[in-house]
Amino acid sequence: MEVIFRIKRFDGGSSYWDEFKVPINMTVLEALFYIKENIDSTLAFRAFCRMGICGSCAIRINKKPMLACETQISKLEKETIELEPLKNFNVIKDLVTDFEGFFKKQKLAKPYLIRKSKGEIQQTPKQLEEYYKYTLCIKCGACVSACPVAKRCLGPAPVVAAHRFNRDSRDEGKEERLKALSDHIWHCHFVSDCSEVCPKNLHPAEVVQKVRLEVLKFNLGW
Ligand code: SF4
Ligand code: FES
Repeated sequence: MEVIFRIKRFDGGSSYWDEFKVPINMTVLEALFYIKENIDSTLAFRAFCRMGICGSCAIRINKKPMLACETQISKLEKETIELEPLKNFNVIKDLVTDFEGFFKKQKLAKPYLIRKSKGEIQQTPKQLEEYYKYTLCIKCGACVSACPVAKRCLGPAPVVAAHRFNRDSRDEGKEERLKALSDHIWHCHFVSDCSEVCPKNLHPAEVVQKVRLEVLKFNLGW
């Protein structure tokens, strides 16, 4: 059995739609490799781990940002499947987008341990539990693609990264981080599309609200 892939392509000048027949019994990423190896070697897409870890293969599948390597074509239950590059990112070629702006925004959120004191730090399993979930963010950009206001603010992913370190008992930079975030997190309307699409179920929309409350308290000196 086969399905049709309708792929939005971009050659550096203009964009256009291209159609390919692919077997149904594979993932979207495997089908993209199938096209590249058997039909059109010029098709560009990004992938690495093929197992939901590296975050490179996020694209829009039938308008929803998803990981191509984790999406079985048969589960989509459609005869025609539209593939497009992530929204809110500049397109380099076909399904490949530019992540430079994304990583610049991550940096602004100071996603690293800030220590003022020296020496060995011990952490209990309970303290690890406080932030461990947020270490699972794979920087895939799906949440940013789904966000209706991402172009006007930081977008959800950097806030998740900041939250991860704010909850880490070894960190001493929470105030610094909240200060850095305070001008960049107020555009969110709590639409929650980011939480709908996050492949790691990190609920970025909820994290943004939590961090906003923390920034508010910090700004009021509470
Ligand atoms: Fe991807 Fe979720 Fe991290 Fe956003 S928060 S970059 S959707 S893993
Ligand atoms: Fe690494 Fe899909 S190829 S997450």
